[in-house]
Amino acid sequence: MDTLWVDKYRPKSFDDVVGQEEAVRKLKAMAETKTVQHLLFSGPPGVGKTTCALILAKESLGENWQDNFMQLNASDDRKLITIQTKVKEFSRSKPLNSSFKIIFLDEADSLTTEAQQALRRMMEDYGENCRFIFSVNYQSNIIEAIQSRCVIIRFKSLDKSAVFSLIDKISNSENLEIDEEAKEALFNSTMGDLRRLINLMQSIASVSKKITAELVYKSLSKINLDKIDKIFKSALSGDYLSSKKELDDIISQGVSPSEIINAMYNYVINSDIAVEKKIKIIELIAEADYRIIVGATPLIQLNAILAKITEW
Ligand SMILES: Nc1ncnc2c1ncn2[C@@H]1O[C@H](COP(=O)(O)OP(=O)(O)OP(=O)(O)O)[C@@H](O)[C@H]1O
Ligand SMILES: [Mg+2]
Repeated sequence: MDTLWVDKYRPKSFDDVVGQEEAVRKLKAMAETKTVQHLLFSGPPGVGKTTCALILAKESLGENWQDNFMQLNASDDRKLITIQTKVKEFSRSKPLNSSFKIIFLDEADSLTTEAQQALRRMMEDYGENCRFIFSVNYQSNIIEAIQSRCVIIRFKSLDKSAVFSLIDKISNSENLEIDEEAKEALFNSTMGDLRRLINLMQSIASVSKKITAELVYKSLSKINLDKIDKIFKSALSGDYLSSKKELDDIISQGVSPSEIINAMYNYVINSDIAVEKKIKIIELIAEADYRIIVGATPLIQLNAILAKITEW
């Protein structure tokens, strides 16, 4: 497997974003006039929220945008004190060549009420220098006091024409052969979630350049990259139980331990996990792989990988 297609095909500008016309129109206007307010992006998974937040930051913060931008993944940085320290540190200095900085709280659904209340105060204390962007799956998971301070931008589940246009784009670029029936199957089985769509296309394309509806349905029951992604994200954020649950799901689908080990290895190699952690995870995978081959119990070995990551 080469690079992950979800990264390869992540839109670099608003013009590459499929669907989401209304959200894109508003965000483009903000980027052009460089007037960004506090924002709340809400919508289902895999429809472009994180993608659009990054594009908005790039286009509104100018050349050295990264100096003026901080992304906190709320599900990794759950501890209130971590958030407070990072926000304080970041907002202390003046923005560089821009009139504001952007703090992006991705996956903010998982913030506790207490953390949200603290963030609301930070919006007040640092609002002059900093704009806050929250991304959530459900708007109702955010306290009223934050909602009322934000412009709400709604992202929709992608419709058939948007999904088909992305399928065509990727098929052309990857030289895939695909018919209408297969496109329908892809659309029906991913429900407007483009991350799932792209991962599914990549996993099928790794076995066949010709995508058929039958292959789509067959590979759905196999390991999907989404699950592997969740296994590692949960483990890395210290949530062993969620991580184990995803592993159990894959095992219950009848996937063999060696297939899981291979899928984990491919995932980690191609992921954007920090390199020091990546090395440590690969060592854990290699160790489990070896032990399984010499006769250790696969399930225990797989769980041990997650348990060790959770402890870091
Ligand atoms: N509107 C879109 N146009 C083109 N590609 C998209 C779009 N939305 C998502 N994608 C693709 O799906 C991937 C995941 O999208 P993104 O990370 O923006 O989802 P999200 O809405 O933030 O989901 P989540 O709620 O799970 O965080 C992107 O890397 C990109 O490849
Ligand atoms: Mg996201």
